[in-house]
Amino acid sequence: MTQRPRENMASIRAYQPQDRSAVYDICVRTGNAGADARHLTSDPDLRGHVYVGPYLHLCAGLAFVLEDAGEVVGYVVGADDTATFVARYRTSWLPRLAASHPPLGRSSLTPDECLLDVLHRPERLLSPYLAEYPSHLHINLLPQAQGQGHGRALITELCHALRACGSRGVHLGVAYRNTRARGFYAHIGFHELYRDAEGVHLGRRILVQGDRGL
Ligand SMILES: CC(C)(COP(=O)(O)OP(=O)(O)OC[C@H]1O[C@@H](n2cnc3c(N)ncnc32)[C@H](O)[C@@H]1OP(=O)(O)O)[C@@H](O)C(=O)NCCC(=O)NCCS
Repeated sequence: MTQRPRENMASIRAYQPQDRSAVYDICVRTGNAGADARHLTSDPDLRGHVYVGPYLHLCAGLAFVLEDAGEVVGYVVGADDTATFVARYRTSWLPRLAASHPPLGRSSLTPDECLLDVLHRPERLLSPYLAEYPSHLHINLLPQAQGQGHGRALITELCHALRACGSRGVHLGVAYRNTRARGFYAHIGFHELYRDAEGVHLGRRILVQGDRGL
């Protein structure tokens, strides 16, 4: 007997401009190594300006959302060519924030200042492994959408799109203390490339066939 999908079953679709505020909101609600980060910063949009805004602005075709009962409950964003992304981030993304979020010009002390510092350092994305893993991604799901296979499905969707762009590999960074995400990435085939002050950097080849996850 074929099983009927439950009504309102969550589904993945391409990002649309009207999803922007929901995506920004999910970013901050899950931005503290997977936990809620809203209490950490005074500017609720700052984290989104770092981790989702530039992707929605520069590579919207590589952004996908998870929708459940008409509500966006998760997303994945990515860049196919990180080096090009970083260059365009400087010329097309940062100028949009120049007036509202100027660089600090001194050491960062508060969580807001640390994020502002990250915002103005897109070159941090230039992994030494770009030749093998030219693309990178960020994925975040609200708690109620986690643990049901949607994370794997979102990464599969993005990797199909990256493969269509000609990418051969994708990398990402994850905080040391985000043990849940680290377990997830290891389970779906990411392996460790290197570690630095910001966390563990992982990579996965984008395979053509014979791979369950991608
Ligand atoms: C991390 C995250 C993206 C994972 O997505 P998810 O939807 O919860 O994970 P899935 O249900 O798709 O899991 C896919 C597979 O990984 C496995 N898995 C998930 N977490 C795991 C863990 N910690 N250890 C081992 N395996 C794990 C699942 O069992 C599942 O296995 P299967 O496909 O073989 O059955 C999601 O939990 C999330 O958004 N967390 C908050 C934000 C965050 O931390 N983002 C990452 C920042 S780097």
